[in-house]
Amino acid sequence: MGAAGFSDGHRGRKVKVVVFLACLWCLVSLSCAGRLSASRQKLEVQKHLKRLNKPPIKTIQSPDGDIIDCVHISHQPAFDHPFLKDHKIQARPSYHPEGVFGENKMSMGPKERTNPITQLWHMNGKCPENTIPIRRTKKEDVLRSRSVKRYGKKKHRSVPKPRSADPDLTNESGHQHAIAYVEGDRYYGAKATINVWEPKIQQPNEFSLSQIWVLGGSFGEDLNSIEAGWQVSPDLYGDNNTRLFTYWTSDAYQATGCYNLLCSGFIQVNSEIAMGASISPVSAFRNSQYDISILIWKDPKEGHWWMQFGNDYVLGYWPSFLFSYLTESASMIEWGGEIVNSEPDGQHTSTQMGSGHFPEEGFGKSSYFRNIQVVDSSNNLKAPKDLGTFTEKSNCYDVQTGSNGDWGHYFYYGGPGRNPNCP
Ligand SMILES: *[C@@H]1O[C@H](CO)[C@@H](O)[C@H](O)[C@H]1NC(C)=O
Ligand SMILES: *[C@@H]1O[C@H](CO)[C@@H](O)[C@H](O)[C@H]1NC(C)=O
Repeated sequence: MGAAGFSDGHRGRKVKVVVFLACLWCLVSLSCAGRLSASRQKLEVQKHLKRLNKPPIKTIQSPDGDIIDCVHISHQPAFDHPFLKDHKIQARPSYHPEGVFGENKMSMGPKERTNPITQLWHMNGKCPENTIPIRRTKKEDVLRSRSVKRYGKKKHRSVPKPRSADPDLTNESGHQHAIAYVEGDRYYGAKATINVWEPKIQQPNEFSLSQIWVLGGSFGEDLNSIEAGWQVSPDLYGDNNTRLFTYWTSDAYQATGCYNLLCSGFIQVNSEIAMGASISPVSAFRNSQYDISILIWKDPKEGHWWMQFGNDYVLGYWPSFLFSYLTESASMIEWGGEIVNSEPDGQHTSTQMGSGHFPEEGFGKSSYFRNIQVVDSSNNLKAPKDLGTFTEKSNCYDVQTGSNGDWGHYFYYGGPGRNPNCP
């Protein structure tokens, strides 16, 4: 018994030693692999930052913590694109659409007066002529992303698809919308004046945005989209500020496109407005209201898609060759809000859309789009025909259209997310 016991114990010790050594080897190699992949990631991040952040001529520190680099116009990220090597920058569009709702023709009651809006970094300086302001991407910005490759890109299939035959398709990504839209014609641009708020975001991996979509093609793998508006996105920017943004893709958010200037594509010509920079002030409940005008249109001569911010800032253009369907025209325009519902704690998110209040509440409480217009085939701005609406769950976020002499076609949209009717 004793001998057997000893030999068993001996064998047991032997096994223990072998297991111990194996574990040690595992730990060492794991930490080595870990350290290797960490240093590989560090290198990858550095390379990516070098690609994004071009050498500045001047640097401006914004009060919100952003660094704005004034980069020579011909050194901007767009020119990393192989197709743009010999591109001659268009200083201005050859054509500017005219419409019935020039901002100056608007008359609003004193209660409904809205105020001009600017970018926060303007408090600390200006970019010189022949440069463009670019929000510098920091290491932390890239590290917050799931992968260096996906940094600055939307998840797949985040475009609202009205009257979708397959509700799961509109739902699977957790993206929810409250929008107005037109389709069934050829469109050469879109315009709207968008109320600006700072919606609360429950989780850093969620966002809330309000924007125009200019869409080409069906909703397949080759969907073309040009987008612009304002957004709050803690993951993308590291804070809860409301920021001006653009987006483009020519393959339904897969390989092409990005936010702002975070890949080569958009060519900026304006030295005063920075994509991705904070806009201020924002509207307050039952108090001062602020809005921004955005116009996107196709230059009939060169075929590029231009973007204007407010009445004064022509920001730049998306060259026509980036797209397939949009080289001709857009087949659908959408205006409205989008949020991500990641269902934290198994319930609907309380991330707000718009002001966080439902459309019924009206001006000063609910967020709006006004002076909704499209650019037609003769390059005129005109009121949309048959404005449809769409929302996945109207108890969470809703939309209501209307029209009158002052605001033309408009809608109120948004909501609080989680509430007794949206559990
Ligand atoms: C979205 O998905 C949830 C569950 O994930 C489901 O309860 C809900 O009905 C879906 N909504 C639509 C519009 O399909
Ligand atoms: C953003 O807002 C959320 C709550 O809505 C808060 O928990 C978080 O700390 C804020 N983040 C920053 C960077 O201010």
